[in-house]
Amino acid sequence: MDGNGRWAKKRFLPRVAGHVKGVELVREMVRACLERGIQYLTLFAFSSENWRRPQEEVSLLMQLFVKALEQEVEKLDRNGVRLRVIGDLCRFEPRLQDLIRQAEAKTAGNTRLDLTIAANYGGRWDIMQATNRMLITRPEKREGWEEADLEPHLSMSFAPEPDLFIRTGGEQRISNFLLWQLAYTELYFTTTLWPDFDTAEFEKAIASFQQRERRFGRTSEQLVGKTDA
Ligand code: IPE
Ligand code: MG
Repeated sequence: MDGNGRWAKKRFLPRVAGHVKGVELVREMVRACLERGIQYLTLFAFSSENWRRPQEEVSLLMQLFVKALEQEVEKLDRNGVRLRVIGDLCRFEPRLQDLIRQAEAKTAGNTRLDLTIAANYGGRWDIMQATNRMLITRPEKREGWEEADLEPHLSMSFAPEPDLFIRTGGEQRISNFLLWQLAYTELYFTTTLWPDFDTAEFEKAIASFQQRERRFGRTSEQLVGKTDA
């Protein structure tokens, strides 16, 4: 979700106004996913690199996060949304960590939409934490580890691999998001700033996705027959 700051700057507003508007767009995206029957929505809200921003902005972002949890969880729960937060949470204030745990517990039984917020998340961090956890499952094992051994330890192990990755704000890079999981994901880049990324923009991204031919290494001809060969 990139472009909040630029959105605010264009309007001669402080950067935080862009972040506030950004939260509104999260609400709209959740609604759009619920309406379309999309099962998984994962949002990159705060990267492990975002701590490098001015302290004031970091602290405002944290306040917004707390406020969103306080105000939105009830409604998410009523709408059948299961909320999870992935990332290295120990750097967050204890109060925020508590709110996250409470929200996750409260919504744990919901199945309509899996909404995941990546916070203090990094794709490399995820692979490393999964590797460390995998290795201690069998300390005596020296070699022969396979992908399937690692996957249950990754932060997104509860979900299938993503179909579509959307980056707003004009940059064309992954910026250390779900590195492992994006191997076969369709990538969609748009110059639209996140606060302007409304349902119509979302529909455009989905329409683009629907044009793609997903071969997973196979040939086009194989897909026509739709065999598993
Ligand atoms: C993304 O918007 C929001 C967060 C990283 C929290 P930016 O804050 O990166 O907005 P720009 O890139 O400065 O426009
Ligand atoms: Mg940015």
